[in-house]
Amino acid sequence: MKEQLNNVISIVDIIIEKFVEEGFTCLDATVGNGNDTIKLSGKVGESGRVYGFDIQKTAIEITTEKLSKYGYIDRTILINDSHTKLDDYIKEQLDFAIYNLGFLPKGRKEIVTNEKTTIESIKKALNLLKKHGILVVVSYIGHENGLDEYKAVYKYLSLLDQKNFNVLELNFINQINNPPRLFCVEVRGGK
Ligand SMILES: C[S@@+](CC[C@H](N)C(=O)[O-])C[C@H]1O[C@@H](n2cnc3c(N)ncnc32)[C@H](O)[C@@H]1O
Repeated sequence: MKEQLNNVISIVDIIIEKFVEEGFTCLDATVGNGNDTIKLSGKVGESGRVYGFDIQKTAIEITTEKLSKYGYIDRTILINDSHTKLDDYIKEQLDFAIYNLGFLPKGRKEIVTNEKTTIESIKKALNLLKKHGILVVVSYIGHENGLDEYKAVYKYLSLLDQKNFNVLELNFINQINNPPRLFCVEVRGGK
């Protein structure tokens, strides 16, 4: 058996595997190279839908090509716009949402998520999530402004009323080089 608890991305894979079902409506708020979009599109099947946002046209183009190869294009809606405007495009409730913050690996490092727009968008995504819906946020603290963004996300999520949301943070406490932090929010019944 391969290692499964060695980094945040493998934990995200476990979460997607466990929580995303056929027919689900999902949001990938930071498409990038499309890795999460593809995983989600595979899990939701033909009857599901995945909305993906990225402000970089190249991210949308690369991911469109990958989705076509997998045969997933009909179940995805890729939007070359900021995830702060997600409520302009998504007119249905969501089962699952993911934010992989920071900049595109091997891409332009100046095009990066930031605390203000990230919080604005997360608020909107939480509003769209159904009862028992799941929000996942991967936050990188090693780059410039990354720590501020992480602190803002931590503060915002930690203040969510526990009657309405279960909020957890996961952190590899023995790893060097500022491993990313993972937040996971479950919408409870009371929302
Ligand atoms: C860490 S990368 C995402 C990696 C991606 N999940 C993958 O599997 O390759 C972060 C992405 O967020 C995008 N981004 C930054 N600000 C954004 C915004 N306001 N709205 C949507 N996307 C944004 C960047 O262009 C970048 O592609």
